Amino acid sequence: MKSSKSYVEENKERFIEELVELLKIPSISADSAYKEDVIKTADAVKKSLAAAGCDVTEICDTPGYPVVYGEKIIDKNLPTVLVYGHYDVQPPDPINLWDSPPFEPVIKKTEIHPEGAIFARGACDDKGQMYMHVKALEYMVKNNDLPCNVKFMIEGEEEVGSENLAWFIERNHDKLANDVILISDTGMIAKDVPSITTGLRGLSYVEVEVTGPNRDLHSGLYGGAVANPINVLTKMIASLHDENNHITIPGFYDKVEELSKEERAKMAEAPFSLENYKKALDLNDVYGEEGYTTNERNSIRPTLDVNGIWGGYTGEGAKTVIASKAYAKISMRLVPNQDWKEITELFKTHFENIAPSGVTVKVNPHHGGQGYVTPIDGIEYQAASEAYKEVFGKEPIPQRSGGSIPIVSLFEKELKSKTILMGFGLDTDAIHSPNEHFGIWNYLKGIETIPFFYKHFTNLKS
Ligand code: BES
Ligand code: MN
Ligand code: MN
Repeated sequence: MKSSKSYVEENKERFIEELVELLKIPSISADSAYKEDVIKTADAVKKSLAAAGCDVTEICDTPGYPVVYGEKIIDKNLPTVLVYGHYDVQPPDPINLWDSPPFEPVIKKTEIHPEGAIFARGACDDKGQMYMHVKALEYMVKNNDLPCNVKFMIEGEEEVGSENLAWFIERNHDKLANDVILISDTGMIAKDVPSITTGLRGLSYVEVEVTGPNRDLHSGLYGGAVANPINVLTKMIASLHDENNHITIPGFYDKVEELSKEERAKMAEAPFSLENYKKALDLNDVYGEEGYTTNERNSIRPTLDVNGIWGGYTGEGAKTVIASKAYAKISMRLVPNQDWKEITELFKTHFENIAPSGVTVKVNPHHGGQGYVTPIDGIEYQAASEAYKEVFGKEPIPQRSGGSIPIVSLFEKELKSKTILMGFGLDTDAIHSPNEHFGIWNYLKGIETIPFFYKHFTNLKS
């Protein structure tokens, strides 16, 4: 039997080519202009699962984009691993900031990826990381090294809130029955510092609209005498943080879990250089909530950020105008125990309360989701830990991430199984940003490591 290392070595060119082909299809779930491409991607994923050795592959229709399902059941008495991933990607905008077109993948070397990285939208999030699992399955099937049953559930709406995946899961408990859910849609600390993501933040996303006068006005004739919605909106937004960068919404922190001194000390042991962090972002300083470190601010603490703000005249030159309306999109990252629906309500009530007379305010909730923490004393964590040890030669570090995969908490609720997050991306891979990329080293290491998870999980489970 061939090792995953030598199989990867022998097939790496093909593994890269196949991923490049998948990355060429612009599966942007947020933009309906790309509908056919999203569906085409689902088809390509289904074919790849069949080619890798799944006995059953299906395109499962939902009210939205389809879920791709695949399975290889070798023995009903053996454990079952359910792999989750997503084939949709974020919009590539702003397109002029890309060094090469987002859907024409190119391989380039970088300081962090001297072996080369694939530059394309979705390279890391999540087509590249999802495809590692398809190739790991191919290895296991071709080399008689699949120790248990495997199911794949690859969705096309992760980047827009996974609403229809929830619909699909609620209707398919039996089909999706499993012993553990395995996901690569997060990151690792560094190439020589393997880590397992043990926490995801929740999310509440809202859009606000402030209306002043019923039409745009001459800012000379009316300025000073009526509320300017942009002035008011920015003032309201500014008031959502106090001088210590605490969020001022009443009740916002009520359910926030406070980590013990010991837990925080353990977190602080993870290798991290504030200097490099600042340098990578061209910052003269970091910024955030008083009393917490950078790594705490972006993982165990909740946040509130304006993602976009608009109104009035933004074209060339000057136009003297008081706009009738101003808008903003605001996201709140939540920590475990904070309920996203409750937080959305708290935000709405507070934001309406602080509106001065002279304007009207509307709060429109978008999507949201719960945070998640994985225990580090379960067999799924132990199996992943052993897998990294075999390939990286050292124990991985548990790390809470700041990102969100809202569907994970629903997996536990509906399917009653734990999720293990084995991410191989780096924070510098620019997911959601221009020039997203995925290191070839990381891609191949992922394919090499995954089969060891199957091996150790099956051993520990039986
Ligand atoms: N893969 C990311 C989440 C992620 C990235 C978690 C890196 C941890 C480390 C996922 O595709 C994503 O972008 N999620 C969205 C939430 C969703 C509801 C749009 C996010 O975190 O903004
Ligand atoms: Mn993702
Ligand atoms: Mn994403």
